[in-house]
Amino acid sequence: MFPKEFMWGGATAANQHEGAWQEGGKGPSVQDVLPNGGRSPRSAQPTPDNLKLIGNDFYHCYEDDIKRMAEMGFQMFRISIAWSRIFPNGDEMTPNEEGLKFYDRLFAVCHKYHMEPMVTLSHYEMPLHLAEHYNGWLHPQMITFFERYVTVVFKRYKGQVKYWLTFNEINSILVTPFMSGGINAHKEELTKQDLYQAAHHQLVASALATKVGHQISEDYQIGCMMLGMPYYPLTPNPDDVIAAMEEEHRNDFFLDVHVRGYYPGYILRYFKDNQIQIQVTNQERELLTHTVDFISLSYYVSACATADESKAASVGNLLSGIPNPYLKASQWGWQMDAKGLRYTLNQYWNRYQKPLFIVENGLGQKDELIEQDGIKTVHDTYRIEYMKEHIEQLEEALKDGVDVRGYLTWGPIDLVSASTAQFSKRYGMVYVDRHDDGSGDMKRYPKESFYWYQRLIESNGEIR
Ligand code: BG6
Repeated sequence: MFPKEFMWGGATAANQHEGAWQEGGKGPSVQDVLPNGGRSPRSAQPTPDNLKLIGNDFYHCYEDDIKRMAEMGFQMFRISIAWSRIFPNGDEMTPNEEGLKFYDRLFAVCHKYHMEPMVTLSHYEMPLHLAEHYNGWLHPQMITFFERYVTVVFKRYKGQVKYWLTFNEINSILVTPFMSGGINAHKEELTKQDLYQAAHHQLVASALATKVGHQISEDYQIGCMMLGMPYYPLTPNPDDVIAAMEEEHRNDFFLDVHVRGYYPGYILRYFKDNQIQIQVTNQERELLTHTVDFISLSYYVSACATADESKAASVGNLLSGIPNPYLKASQWGWQMDAKGLRYTLNQYWNRYQKPLFIVENGLGQKDELIEQDGIKTVHDTYRIEYMKEHIEQLEEALKDGVDVRGYLTWGPIDLVSASTAQFSKRYGMVYVDRHDDGSGDMKRYPKESFYWYQRLIESNGEIR
């Protein structure tokens, strides 16, 4: 049984669906120079083969798209604000009014359909200028620029938005430093010191945003956002158990800082062992005590860890790990593990007792558009199966006493992939006629999963 007030819906990111990369005064973002996705090197400039420049054209289709989501019964819709629509370069003093107006209109349409917006302040889309001139989150001045940006949007959308997330998958900065942190260098050129220093600046900025948001409105609910990926020991060998624990520590410390307000002992030990020196000033220490109201997470995969160095990590989404022999993988090699969702929710709840939101989950798969009785659709039973299994495990977690407030499926209308920048990696319940070679007329067609999700929401999770 799902609680009466449980929120069902979907989630997106500006850079993956809006397109219109040069319209409305928008400046380029780091995504505009990532034609092959977040794990591949950047291009010198935006190039036409980058599908994100056009996305799924949400910037022009948002009214119809939100209507489609309302037809599915969405109660919550997660979007991100493209920072470079508001501050095209990121270091200006005055925001771009046209960018602000776009989101005014977007939120108005959400409210017309009684849909609660959830807004990510930074979803892998820093203004490119900040990456090129400051080296992104490596530079402490980023905290000032971010504060200026969040202050503007917190004030502007007061009364229109209640739920905010600071950084999408904040723990990913350690693996995709350019996409996640605007650090303008190959990962191999960066030291652990660089990566953790940048992470520290983001953590301070996240706490500062939480503080500023709460000052602007007492109604604001501000959360952190984690890439949730549990690590299991590959074998019961205690060395593997410790290896899994240490992998989790590398992610969990982001949560500890957000929820408890200080760096936990295990990460201070890691810093010491690896000659990483993070100077935390008294002012920063005070800022970190501005902790989040809730925890949100994406969940797609799990992985294993081992102390055996002969085994190479090869599965995962942005993070990576050792393949689990008991799990099957998606077409993109992501191992599917619905029970890992129940496990992760229990872990987070037992550790922090903070409300949880699942703000991303879904299956990225190739779809075939077919025509049946004159209607074009996709028989995506595999996607329904994936979601069904995960929602079953979510219900198990609720029975365990975990306080989960909502479930948002990723990319409800097909959009561009973050890790590979392909369009063929589709998550949607609405098919978009757009292809990896840039062809397609962008028309939308409900898939079988559209009607399934509609029934599921209507019955508040009962009919699966
Ligand atoms: C998460 C990101 O990592 O996973 C999204 O927050 C992303 O931006 C999603 O799209 C799915 O990953 P991908 O690489 O298949 O698009």
